[in-house]
Amino acid sequence: MEAAPSATLRSMMNTKDLGSELPGRHFVLGLTGGVAAYKAAEFCRLLVNAGATVQVVMTGAACRFITPLTMQALSGRPVYVSQWDDRPANNMAHINFSREADAVIVAPASADFIAQLAQGQAGELLALLCLARPLAQVPLLVAPAMNREMWAHPATQRNLRQIAADGAHLLPVAHGGQACGETGDGRMLEAEELLEELIAFMAPKPLLGQQVVVTAGPTYEAIDPVRGITNLSSGKMGFAIARAAREAGACVTLVAGPVHLSTPRGVRRIDVDSALNMHAATIDAVQGASIFIATAAVADWRPVRAAQHKIKKEDGAGSAPQLALAENPDILAGIAHSPRAQAGDLYCVGFAAESENLQANAQAKRARKGVPLLVANIGPATFGRDDNALLLVDDEGVTELPRASKRVLARQLVAEIARRVSGGEA
Ligand code: C5P
Repeated sequence: MEAAPSATLRSMMNTKDLGSELPGRHFVLGLTGGVAAYKAAEFCRLLVNAGATVQVVMTGAACRFITPLTMQALSGRPVYVSQWDDRPANNMAHINFSREADAVIVAPASADFIAQLAQGQAGELLALLCLARPLAQVPLLVAPAMNREMWAHPATQRNLRQIAADGAHLLPVAHGGQACGETGDGRMLEAEELLEELIAFMAPKPLLGQQVVVTAGPTYEAIDPVRGITNLSSGKMGFAIARAAREAGACVTLVAGPVHLSTPRGVRRIDVDSALNMHAATIDAVQGASIFIATAAVADWRPVRAAQHKIKKEDGAGSAPQLALAENPDILAGIAHSPRAQAGDLYCVGFAAESENLQANAQAKRARKGVPLLVANIGPATFGRDDNALLLVDDEGVTELPRASKRVLARQLVAEIARRVSGGEA
């Protein structure tokens, strides 16, 4: 029978509020004339759900695509279009809005509006407030949206270079079908992608310049073409860590076993299946990396030989096939004992899923793997869930990260790693 969990374990198993991504942040969301304006409505809703407040400002052209009424209902604030609007007591919406905001985001940004920005024009409230914003304090993010020919035109590309040189942060465009029926570059990012870009932009950057490799998910060891040995692992924690490391400014490679998760934006993903594949891909990826975080649930054994065809079930008792198994390489231990890791050039972090005696088991595993930091969690309380609780074990002792969403925990863990890698300066 399993021992009852300790008090620490019990407290870590309580579910807390999952929290939001942009609490207390205030943004000006600018809409200009483009079909993609409909995506700005959903983006506004996501911003509000993420805990932000949003002041919407629209150009006259934007109002031809979507109504201020819609944006007012979604933001919960009156929408402004004209610089002559006399609702603000001082009649200076362009000054008030650009001083209150943590950032101004123009989505969609039309070719025409980008040209206005490039020239420093201020004929409408939105362009005026972009020009009037305090450059050093209030960043401007621009999400272009236009037809592929307009996007590729040298004038547009010249204007984009100019506004980037003037301090705007350009969000990428997507490739695909366009409202005009053509296919190419120039589609605005989807609302969720805009949110992910904004969250990453606003996040502190303690891992700037670092190269991080993360393994995530299970491995799959084929027995025959239809059967295999695998582990319980959704990959959610590892994916959240990859995302958090990218938000923190790192260049991230994610070596992923078979999981059904979308790749965090800005992360390089290498898909693998077996432990041997994960081993080879990870050894390759950590060349030149500065941080390695092993969250994958790697199968300990693999069939010595996978059958070429499906193994047939024979009738009668005692017909189960005898599988010869070989031990898989320990990816983490191998890399942690490599010369670069031993020299302190590659900081290695291991994970451990335990069901009891979290701390003692974690300490033992840390020594066995030879890693400076071991992160323990309770297996049954994390598998497949969106929340988790972590116990960090290292030279300093034990640090508890209480139950929270995996995204929140991943950010906390990345901050802890950054502090250790930078010697406490992060
Ligand atoms: O030994 P155990 O599987 O409990 O160790 C867990 C830690 O070691 C995790 O960080 C896991 O990603 C890593 N590991 C590995 N290669 C293996 C087995 C585990 O990298 N073959």
